[in-house]
Amino acid sequence: NNASVVGGKSFTAVAINCASKAGEWIKTKLGNYASLDIKYSSHDLVTEIDKGSERLIKNLVMTHFPHHSFLGEEGVEPGPEASAKALANIRDAEYLWIVDPIDGTTNFVHGFPFFCVSIALAYKGEVIVGVVYDPMKDELFVAEKGKGAYVHGKRMQASKDETLRGSLVATGLPADHHYALPLNLKGIQAIAPQVRNLRIAGSAALHLAYVAAGRLSGFWEIGLSSWDLAAGTLLVQESGGIVTDTMGKPYDLGVRNVVATNGHIQDELVAALAASNANE
Ligand code: IPD
Ligand code: CA
Ligand code: CA
Ligand code: CA
Repeated sequence: NNASVVGGKSFTAVAINCASKAGEWIKTKLGNYASLDIKYSSHDLVTEIDKGSERLIKNLVMTHFPHHSFLGEEGVEPGPEASAKALANIRDAEYLWIVDPIDGTTNFVHGFPFFCVSIALAYKGEVIVGVVYDPMKDELFVAEKGKGAYVHGKRMQASKDETLRGSLVATGLPADHHYALPLNLKGIQAIAPQVRNLRIAGSAALHLAYVAAGRLSGFWEIGLSSWDLAAGTLLVQESGGIVTDTMGKPYDLGVRNVVATNGHIQDELVAALAASNANE
């Protein structure tokens, strides 16, 4: 596909290079960073490693594709209003790189080894490349639109579980305690008794990669942003899964309340969230 190659460098190769370089650097900084800032609340953290990772990725992307647009989490003011504003026109850009420099900052800060670098490229509002890299396990998840999803070169296939009852499902505990957390807690109360078990491991992008890899059968969370979702949702779709919002509308870059599954349990999970009013 010519559109995905500029000057001999494929978009995917650059995304992989960025994610690996940033991930390797982050790993060397585990338990060894100098400053910790509170962004929006004591639940919303940022370190200089988040900012350094984003700088590294942005510099690399801009060297290869100086005319592309770039949206990184740490380039946006903290808080739900600023992020809503930053995401408002996201579908208008031609080529847009959407980057979460560390997804799972709280885990990183506490040395809990479950965090990743998430890098997506969207073309006119559609995600065409998604890369998620977990430096602690050295796992690289890569998807290209229409070409499947791979973990370290091996094709991924979402799980075959047919029911919530037989499924391992994940969710999150969002930092926004006004809107997103109460709704998500409502969802947890409704879903936990219906699934085999629930996991809340603290990285939305990595949870999505695990749905793609068949290690989880579903994931939902309220109040996420496109940098949490863009790469991971393509991984899920390209491994045979389905991604919608919590009302069942197909995923696009504007979606903040997400349901991503192996496909088989999608309707059941959406319906269970709706039945408990945990979906809006
Ligand atoms: C957070 C993580 C977490 C999710 C939060 C996100 P961050 O991203 O993905 O799992 O529950 O809603 O904000 O801040 O670590 O990049
Ligand atoms: Ca954050
Ligand atoms: Ca994130
Ligand atoms: Ca982040």
